[in-house]
Amino acid sequence: MKASILERDLQYVWHPCSQMKFYEDNPPLIVEKAYGSYLQLKDGRKIIDAISSWWCKSLGHGHPKIKQALFDQAERFEHVILADVTHDTIVDLSERLGNISPSLKKVFYASDGSSAVEIAMKMSLHSKQLGGENQRSKFMALGNGYHGETSLAMSVTDLGHFKDPYRAVLTPSYFIVDIPYVSGRFDPLWQDCAELWPAIERQLEPYADSLTAILIEPIVQGAGGMRIYSQDFLRRLRVWTRTHNIHLIADEMMTGLGRTGLPLACQHAGIEPDFLCLGKGLTAGWLPMAAVVTSNQIYDYFYHQDISKAFLHSHTHTGNALAASVALATLKVMDEENIYAKAQAMEGILLKLMQEVERQTAAISNIRCIGGIVAADLIDLNAREVYKQAIQKGALLRPLGNSIYWLPPLNTECEVLEELKDITSSAINQAKNTKSSGLIEVIC
Ligand SMILES: Cc1ncc(COP(=O)(O)O)c(C=O)c1O
Repeated sequence: MKASILERDLQYVWHPCSQMKFYEDNPPLIVEKAYGSYLQLKDGRKIIDAISSWWCKSLGHGHPKIKQALFDQAERFEHVILADVTHDTIVDLSERLGNISPSLKKVFYASDGSSAVEIAMKMSLHSKQLGGENQRSKFMALGNGYHGETSLAMSVTDLGHFKDPYRAVLTPSYFIVDIPYVSGRFDPLWQDCAELWPAIERQLEPYADSLTAILIEPIVQGAGGMRIYSQDFLRRLRVWTRTHNIHLIADEMMTGLGRTGLPLACQHAGIEPDFLCLGKGLTAGWLPMAAVVTSNQIYDYFYHQDISKAFLHSHTHTGNALAASVALATLKVMDEENIYAKAQAMEGILLKLMQEVERQTAAISNIRCIGGIVAADLIDLNAREVYKQAIQKGALLRPLGNSIYWLPPLNTECEVLEELKDITSSAINQAKNTKSSGLIEVIC
């Protein structure tokens, strides 16, 4: 008799970001179908995808217009090399992305977010060399930040779990600590962090002549616990980096394309980075694609008769046509279905619902919220236990350390959000009464 799917899973599949031993007693959910904000499991249960499948399903599962765009592209061709070749799908997408921020005009494609971050870092470093600034070879990033799993991206990540075993081969980087976190847009620090800025500037100054770029997750640090920080801090950092001729790399993998209520989180601070990294929601989580958007000024450093001055980075799937067709359809749907306005309206709803969870459980604190993201810290509770209970009750509520958060598809109906609130409260209350020692922490 053929082994069950779970037996075969444990035999062959090595799951991402997981301690595999944990799966012995906590088998993965078997998804049969997914639609809208729901996953339907093989055993018939319906589960709310409360974290948009690692933050990428901005339009939920199975959007018909995106499915159609994918079919249409597949009818024509699925992928062609992008060196020496072009096609209307990639040109249309690049034109759209080249108009997303006033002076960012050139688009370079990658297959995932980590690679996009690496591309931006390489472009920054290389352009400084081409401009004769060889002394600028260091990177700085925000403490508690996350930028991906490849080695340069990990070098500027400040979460020990992910990078500790590999430190020996990573590039030493600097991190800005004590950044002004806020609870949301109505926190006074959001508008004005003048009092804290001098201490931050003191951290920056020693590196003013050696940095090529500072990397940020603008406004919200995702893997670091959905921590929101002051737009004024970001605005000041942009002024400082411009003054010192240092690039700003905005890693909008999680925040980009509507998640914080604006097309780009940088827009909360009214700033423009030198490099904008997009992924995840770029294809509404349909296919792996990421992009780096930068200025003509950066591009011009590489524009030369000499091949050695070119940016010689490539991935086999750079500009994959199926992914590009889906990204183009995603951007159209974002406009046609007013998704940015929906994300803005979601902020008040999520906040109110999470505050109800606080009242109903008395077991969460430090609620923070912006656009389609709300998070809170569990008080004296095992987050893994809450996660387990939530799955049983119908929501995939994967925590980050001791924080729980909702980051649902941006077109999630209000009734589904209400249901999510009920499940969350009930899961937390149930977890209070359950002995759960020895459960392994969920870190992302
Ligand atoms: C801010 C940020 N940067 C980079 C990445 C890495 O993207 P990917 O998982 O597509 O490599 C992530 C993934 O969660 C992210 O949140």
